[in-house]
Amino acid sequence: MNQQIREAQYAVRGELAIRSEELKNVCPMTGVNLPFSRVVGCNIGNPQALDQKPITFFRQVASLVEYPELLKEENAEIVSRLYPSDAVARAKLLLKHVGSVGAYSHSQGIPHIRENVAKFISERDGYAADPSKIYLTQGASAGVQLTLEMIIEHNKVGIMIPIPQYPLYTATLAVLDANPVPYYLDESKGWGLTTKELQRSFDEAVQKGIETRALVIINPGNPTGQCLTEDNMREIIEFCRKNKVILLADEVYQTNIYRPKDRPFHSFKKVLKSMGSDYEGFELISYHSISKGMIGECGRRGGYFECEGLCDTVLEQIYKISSISLCPNVQGQIMVDLMVDPPKKGDPSYEQYKKEYDDIYSSLIKRAAILEETFNSLEGCTCNSADGAMYLFPQIRLPKKAIEAARAAGKEPDHFYCMAMLESTGVCMVAGSGFGQVEGTAHFRSTFLPQPELFADFCSGIKNFHADFMDRYRD
Ligand SMILES: Cc1ncc(COP(=O)(O)O)c(C=O)c1O
Repeated sequence: MNQQIREAQYAVRGELAIRSEELKNVCPMTGVNLPFSRVVGCNIGNPQALDQKPITFFRQVASLVEYPELLKEENAEIVSRLYPSDAVARAKLLLKHVGSVGAYSHSQGIPHIRENVAKFISERDGYAADPSKIYLTQGASAGVQLTLEMIIEHNKVGIMIPIPQYPLYTATLAVLDANPVPYYLDESKGWGLTTKELQRSFDEAVQKGIETRALVIINPGNPTGQCLTEDNMREIIEFCRKNKVILLADEVYQTNIYRPKDRPFHSFKKVLKSMGSDYEGFELISYHSISKGMIGECGRRGGYFECEGLCDTVLEQIYKISSISLCPNVQGQIMVDLMVDPPKKGDPSYEQYKKEYDDIYSSLIKRAAILEETFNSLEGCTCNSADGAMYLFPQIRLPKKAIEAARAAGKEPDHFYCMAMLESTGVCMVAGSGFGQVEGTAHFRSTFLPQPELFADFCSGIKNFHADFMDRYRD
């Protein structure tokens, strides 16, 4: 088999997640008494797995397009009792453009939906977007994988990635036999990013004979939650131009913004456009997804990427590669349409949509703050605030005896800590070693997605576990 596949590691679905699945399945069948009643998967940003309710309007439209019989005239009366009129109208409009959700669509994505994505981008940024440069995908992951495949020409190609990073990047680079070119985010400065560090990383790769072709920026960050300032983004664009690298902007958390006044989200597309005509032809690919934000429709696999500054011959090749997979799934595309064009003020569903959206949003802000406070209250633990995204990434200073016990078990110390937490609380987090971290440090990543009514128990479970763990291994 392809040995590159063996090389790839994907920590968020790694050993800890596998063990958590075993615990979920084994305990009811064997009746084994575990010290917890429920496994809580905080290893991945998967809101509906932790009981976040889907947005009603989105599911109403999705169900109507799935079963178009409901839209026939003879069913209008009964349907009007179950569905608001704007959900019915949207489903009819979508079906007019989609045909059947069971048919392959245009390989680049349904043109009507791409037009709506372009409208969304131009309203968000204040600069025009072109539907012909937008590709709908099976989640952002598929877009990232496809574009990396396009860029990686040989095994000396390097792609700059943040450390810590979301392991989609290291895993895909391993599969494609390319070189990660790591740049470090500065934990002491709220996971800040400097162009000095970018240049250091780029220059070091040159010394090793690596041809760096792209820079990945995750903004807001995963696992770090930092949100870039506009000035910082301009410097990054300048860095890319100077060093002739394409910028890959992973912006899947663009609506998960928790300090909107101090740290609002700016898209790279907008910042680039604001820099004027000198930057004409600058190459940027930006990714978005239905999996995050307040939508959390991870399982439907929908997303898109927008290409800026790529020449037509490259765009044609992207189309060719997309067409080899025939098309992104149609229900995922429909959810993209709903994400970029939700109910508007005055629509029958607007009030309910806004309430559901705002409730999730304000609760995420609260839960992020409570979990940060919890982590900062733990002995030996420090945690930066999340400006955005769905995670906290605290640093933990483990006692020497715990480190020795981990080494004796052949595990990284942070993995050892997370496994102990899983076995005693049922909470599954991911060890920092799965994301990359400064040598000699230990971290772990947790989502703050457990539902509000369970949150106090979730936090006290972590506190109790941590106190016991530290006592057990205290030097
Ligand atoms: C930074 C980042 N990019 C991409 C993805 C993949 O998202 P999708 O479900 O759209 O493939 C994730 C998922 O957690 C992520 O955190």
